[in-house]
Amino acid sequence: MRRACFIVWVACCSAPPQLLVPKLTHSLAVEMVIPAAAEDLDPDAALIRLVLRAEPLPEGHPSGFRYAYNGQVPGPTINAEIGQTLEVQLVNGLSAGTTIHWHGLHLPNAMDGVPWQRDPIAPGAAFTYRFTLSQVGTFWYHPHFNTAGQVDGGLYGALIVRDPAAQAADHDLVALIDDRAEVEEDGAAKRATGHGRRRRHWMVNGASPGFFNAAAGSSVRLRLINVSNHGYVRLVGDDLRWIASDQGPFTAPRSVAEIVLAPGDRSELEFRLGAQLLGLSIAPYSLNGGAALGAARLLFALRPSGVGAAPEALRLNPQVRVQHPDPGYADIVWAFAGSDRTGKWFINGRRFPDSDIDEVALNATVILEVRNLSPTEHPYHLHGHTFEVVSRNGVAPPQPTYEDTINIRIRERVRLRLIADNPGDWMSHCHILPHAEDGMMTVLRVVP
Ligand code: C2O
Ligand code: CU
Repeated sequence: MRRACFIVWVACCSAPPQLLVPKLTHSLAVEMVIPAAAEDLDPDAALIRLVLRAEPLPEGHPSGFRYAYNGQVPGPTINAEIGQTLEVQLVNGLSAGTTIHWHGLHLPNAMDGVPWQRDPIAPGAAFTYRFTLSQVGTFWYHPHFNTAGQVDGGLYGALIVRDPAAQAADHDLVALIDDRAEVEEDGAAKRATGHGRRRRHWMVNGASPGFFNAAAGSSVRLRLINVSNHGYVRLVGDDLRWIASDQGPFTAPRSVAEIVLAPGDRSELEFRLGAQLLGLSIAPYSLNGGAALGAARLLFALRPSGVGAAPEALRLNPQVRVQHPDPGYADIVWAFAGSDRTGKWFINGRRFPDSDIDEVALNATVILEVRNLSPTEHPYHLHGHTFEVVSRNGVAPPQPTYEDTINIRIRERVRLRLIADNPGDWMSHCHILPHAEDGMMTVLRVVP
């Protein structure tokens, strides 16, 4: 008897972890929640003007969130076109300072919303952010002060910048993916349990995952944003059509079975709905290098109504992206180190704000190398610039890869190429928000 048990145990633990992708025979029980769009207060087509009021939610609010922009979580979706100017007045109705950072955008340094050489917006005060949108893609906005607590509390929203030359999908949906309550009241990260994992309660647009009904024959563009503090989103599905990541449409769409969105990352998927139910699931992920066991769960289901064949692929006006080789050197090396055990996280042995500031000349081509010496993965993010991934452990990616946030795996050495064309001090950090707050942040200074 004992022996039999032993054999079973060995067989089960040495087998490759089985990922159970739910069969798409059933749909989800509730309809997907879509965040209300921001109202443009200006009649001028070249300008989008709006007010975002950051406020506490009443205690015990049924949503489980503590804060909101204009009373909603996620905050209003800002829909814009490339070339438009965005003017947002942030009114701070919180009892603490706050800011808004526009994640992924090239904007003047003073509009970047970081309290570095500038104070946060005080309680009761207001600040107007104003900049012109020069990139197409799916971006997001969030505070950059007491970031882990404020983002986890519900302060985040989507900013979509469209290309008028691209064909619009019949349904263009945003999905901000969050894990419920990741920080304690005092702002400390909730402890991982077991093998670096804890059970996650995934939400889409602040609510339970849901289905979306559309007519058979229609096209759906789904814009996914991982707004979670430290949850990795591993998306799995049958033959996903991946059309964009952080910085706009790929040169050519990719057909994949899985996408990993690290905190801060975005991706866009195209669904062409015929007679079949289409879906997207979320699977467990370990950022400590081990196997992630467990079943995948449906995150999004697209239900056809009526009859119709799947439509043609969207004409997306892709960006022409050049792929540069790894030049074989780096101008700046940032070594990421630290551990969950100490709760201290370092870049080049320093903890922000006690950082060594790296300077580069305006318009220089810069090769950054990010090395991960720690026992966990880190999503690396740089403000104010787009970078190209030229190599991972010396190997070039299979296609041009332009990002502002990228996951760095354990022991990995990633080289990034950028044109330092935006003057100022730019935050360079891990987007696992408790890691950034516990020191894993530095500054890239672009000197005119
Ligand atoms: Cu999305 Cu420095 O952050
Ligand atoms: Cu990190």
